[in-house]
Amino acid sequence: MDRYAVLGQPVGHSKSPRIHAAFAASLDQKLLYEAYEIAPDELGPSLSRFHAEGWAGFNLTVPHKLAGAALCESRSDAAEQAGAVNTLIRTTSGWHGDNTDGAGLVRDLIANLGVEIRGKRVLVLGAGGAARGILAPLLAEGPAELAISNRNPWKPEEIAAALKPLGNIVPRTHLSLKGDRYDLVLNATSAGHAGAIPRLPPKLFADGGVAYDLNYGQAAVPFMVWAKADGAARVSDGLGMLVEQAAEAFRRWRGVRPETAAVLAGLRG
Ligand code: ATR
Repeated sequence: MDRYAVLGQPVGHSKSPRIHAAFAASLDQKLLYEAYEIAPDELGPSLSRFHAEGWAGFNLTVPHKLAGAALCESRSDAAEQAGAVNTLIRTTSGWHGDNTDGAGLVRDLIANLGVEIRGKRVLVLGAGGAARGILAPLLAEGPAELAISNRNPWKPEEIAAALKPLGNIVPRTHLSLKGDRYDLVLNATSAGHAGAIPRLPPKLFADGGVAYDLNYGQAAVPFMVWAKADGAARVSDGLGMLVEQAAEAFRRWRGVRPETAAVLAGLRG
């Protein structure tokens, strides 16, 4: 039986084993998917050992996405553009790194939530690994404007310069957003894990504007509450993105994309 796992620290809260078990059951596939707590300095040796043991693939979560990219013998375009990997696919001699986070987000926005990106003004908050992973897939959807704003004002400049070959990303600071309106504001900061939100000027949402937090559970609550009070017409957490990125990983491993609606409904229920 093919073996897979999510590697992270902490990883005990991960919903990935449940999601992949549901995908496998829905397609009548037999596989094993586990969760392993791995410290950062153990990632390299662990991946070598897992390869020798015959494991078929891994998902990487916090804090391994950046370091994991360097440990892969090859990487997809999505992984190169994100500078991070969340999915490892076994090769004969090592691991191929891919990144399905951005594809998962775009799929959740467009297919599940019916949120348009093409021709819209889109703002990404945060400039860490989570933000970086979604910018190229968002650009590919053809927004009228894609802006990125961060607490540390230098990081958006660096990211915009690095992704310049892919398209125009407008680097902003939180303060400079005053007076601007966006159709879609994505919170890719980790502030919510500390119960906080980025310090933003008020009235950030255009009419019908949507707020989306890449986090889910408690970590998404502060931003969603703020966004509603600020005038967002709709707010969503990132649980759908989690399920969709998992479906994309499953497709890369197993060659078939599972249906996600029932799995997402089950997690929400
Ligand atoms: P991740 O991989 O989840 O993106 P990260 O690389 O550590 O994690 O990045 C965290 C992001 O959240 C950064 O953009 C960080 O802003 P800084 O670059 O200024 O540190 C942002 N962030 C974290 N806590 C925040 C807070 N309380 N207010 C605003 N931004 C915050």
